[in-house]
Amino acid sequence: MTEFSSRVEQVSISGIREVFEAAGEDAINLGLGQPDFPTPAHAKEAAVAAIEAGDADGYTSNKGTRELREAIARKYDRENEFTVDPANVIATAGGSEALHVVMEAHVDAGDEVIIPDPGFVSYDALTRLAGGQPRPVGLREDLTLDPAAVEAAITDETAAFVVNSPANPTGAVQSVEDMRGFARIADEHDLLCISDEVYESMIFEGEHRSPAAFAETDNVVVVNACSKTYSMTGWRLGWVTASHDRIERMLRVHQYVQACASAPSQYAAEAALSGPQEPVEEMVTAFERRRDLVLGELEEMGLDCPTPEGAFYAMPRVPDGWVEEVLDRGVVVVPGEAFGDGGAGHARISYATDTDTLREALDIMHEATAAVR
Ligand SMILES: Cc1ncc(COP(=O)(O)O)c(C=O)c1O
Repeated sequence: MTEFSSRVEQVSISGIREVFEAAGEDAINLGLGQPDFPTPAHAKEAAVAAIEAGDADGYTSNKGTRELREAIARKYDRENEFTVDPANVIATAGGSEALHVVMEAHVDAGDEVIIPDPGFVSYDALTRLAGGQPRPVGLREDLTLDPAAVEAAITDETAAFVVNSPANPTGAVQSVEDMRGFARIADEHDLLCISDEVYESMIFEGEHRSPAAFAETDNVVVVNACSKTYSMTGWRLGWVTASHDRIERMLRVHQYVQACASAPSQYAAEAALSGPQEPVEEMVTAFERRRDLVLGELEEMGLDCPTPEGAFYAMPRVPDGWVEEVLDRGVVVVPGEAFGDGGAGHARISYATDTDTLREALDIMHEATAAVR
């Protein structure tokens, strides 16, 4: 029989899925990594109009429509301190494909990729699928990634390091100084910094600055998506932006694995990025309120939780047996180990759910906490 590739044998289905599958049908799900808001109406309407006009029937350019890439470039002019040439953008099937093409284009067999631990599950898996070796680096007490720890983990084999702010699973936001530090490391060590910025607009405290705003070389690749910002996870629309040479290499991968991002989604994304941004503000305001609710309740339970300053996750330190007790009582939370060894002793709570349901889940967590103490 044809054997499976050694690369695919190194990855397994995410631990998050396993938790979902183990949970009962009526469980309250605080495990989801997607906003509970609708996609903005103007984005949906743009896709419908494009479909009805027949504009979305065919392939687009491999990089995506010129109009979408210009809308992405305008977003950087409006919101970030660096400019992006529309020619240096590839629209992808979500941030996931963007991360995949970055890894495939830059990681050789045996190369090491430094990843935050705990960190988003794809960093480990995509490194392995590219033939590389993940090099997890633990976080600070406040769950941010220390540039000094990244620098200390660099070896002759290191091909790249991943920065993710605001972060999944921690909700942590890196300081401007840290981002400057990551840019310096990319420059001085001539090393690729993969900056995953899919939660960049979801910040309650502090501010988002990309390492790309500070780097003096072309060593920062930025991954982003409409998925979280515009509650468009189902549309599968993200992008990657980098220097001309890097984009040209990533396009070789994207062309063969994807051809182009879904055309209707490209029209929706263009409208989401160019249209009114109030839906994003409303969502972020709601997340901040829920964050405060969750933090207050966790404190009452006596659980220590570094204040998440962005995204929609909290990652408290929890006693042994807590996750199982919460799951048994019908609330899905994800054990920290699902995000790497450094996640042990923590749980990830996603508060992308309405306040009433969240309150109900928090009541159950109170009971579970009392039961394991
Ligand atoms: C940190 C991070 N990066 C990338 C992604 C991928 O997002 P997308 O749905 O756009 O593929 C996710 C999704 O959960 C994420 O949390």
